[in-house]
Amino acid sequence: MIVLGIESSCDDTSAAVVKDGRRVLSCVVTGQDSFHEKFGGVVPEIASRRHISVIDRIVLKAVFDSRVRMNGIEGVAVTCGPGLIGAVLVGLNYAKGLAYSLGVPFVGINHVEAHLYAARLEENTPTPPFVGLVVSGGHTNLYHVESMDKIQLLGRTVDDAAGECFDKVGKLLGLDYPAGRQIDILAAKGNAKAVDFPRPMIRSNDLNFSFSGLKTAVKNYLADLGRAPVGDELNDIAASFSAAVADVLVAKLLDAAGRCGVKRIVAAGGVAANGFLRKRVASEAAKSGLELFVPGLEFCTDNAAMIAAAGNAALEKGESSPWALNAYASLTKGA
Ligand code: KG4
Ligand code: ZN
Repeated sequence: MIVLGIESSCDDTSAAVVKDGRRVLSCVVTGQDSFHEKFGGVVPEIASRRHISVIDRIVLKAVFDSRVRMNGIEGVAVTCGPGLIGAVLVGLNYAKGLAYSLGVPFVGINHVEAHLYAARLEENTPTPPFVGLVVSGGHTNLYHVESMDKIQLLGRTVDDAAGECFDKVGKLLGLDYPAGRQIDILAAKGNAKAVDFPRPMIRSNDLNFSFSGLKTAVKNYLADLGRAPVGDELNDIAASFSAAVADVLVAKLLDAAGRCGVKRIVAAGGVAANGFLRKRVASEAAKSGLELFVPGLEFCTDNAAMIAAAGNAALEKGESSPWALNAYASLTKGA
């Protein structure tokens, strides 16, 4: 089955054509960083307007790149939440209009759960049951995936998401928004043992997370320093901070795998592109005899290929959404 995926839940507009939920024939992503940078975060109204101005071009390019004719598209999958409501609405309404005009079904997809499908776009795919961690700018969720139809939320952040923490710490360090990738680059040159930042809730005996205290710890460290860190000092802070985030995420992911009695784990979402996290989770999974699945870098951050893959699973079973489907800022299941 050939599915067109559309994603517009935050500040990336993306469209992708995926065959049988596995083979990415095309995936086009365009960001809006330069439009939000000066505000230090995503401005919802600007995000919606940018989506509106580019979505047509992005979808047409994805279809063109896939070498599939428009009438070869057999279903349309689109993020219906969670996300910025105005932004989600742009993709959702575009998808409805396109699916209606092509005479094919459309299906609304939970963006956060779709991040787990990104791991299924790789050569070696995770077969349920597995435990999945989705770490992004808006979410830090742990799931028990008994089957792709039975996804249970095990834990989540009680305050900031991990990616949000990267972005806020980046701002403290004088970096542009979004700062995750820049911190990652600095951290690769730094000493992770230089500063002993806290590992919030690592021993909380549940599967929830908290990152706002870690951000405050960095803030206090910088206040004590009394000046902007530069050179190796900056690299060391970036590395020590990244190690603290990675330690907590990996500890909880492994704990969840033990509690659920699964042998396979998945780490997905924008923060799963992080070098420290990828290394740490790989070494700890190996030590614990767990099989690890991590999407390729391009499918960690927001993309429509994962939406198409998730949509394929539903559409293949004959499931689709009603034309009246709404956009949701949060979705109880996995929000
Ligand atoms: O999944 P995503 O693209 O969008 C959301 O659904 O939120 O994740 C974006 C988040 C941002 O907070 C960004 O700073 C973070 O992922 N991020 C990273 C890296 N690349 C992106 N964080 C740490 N290291 C990275 N390499
Ligand atoms: Zn996302």
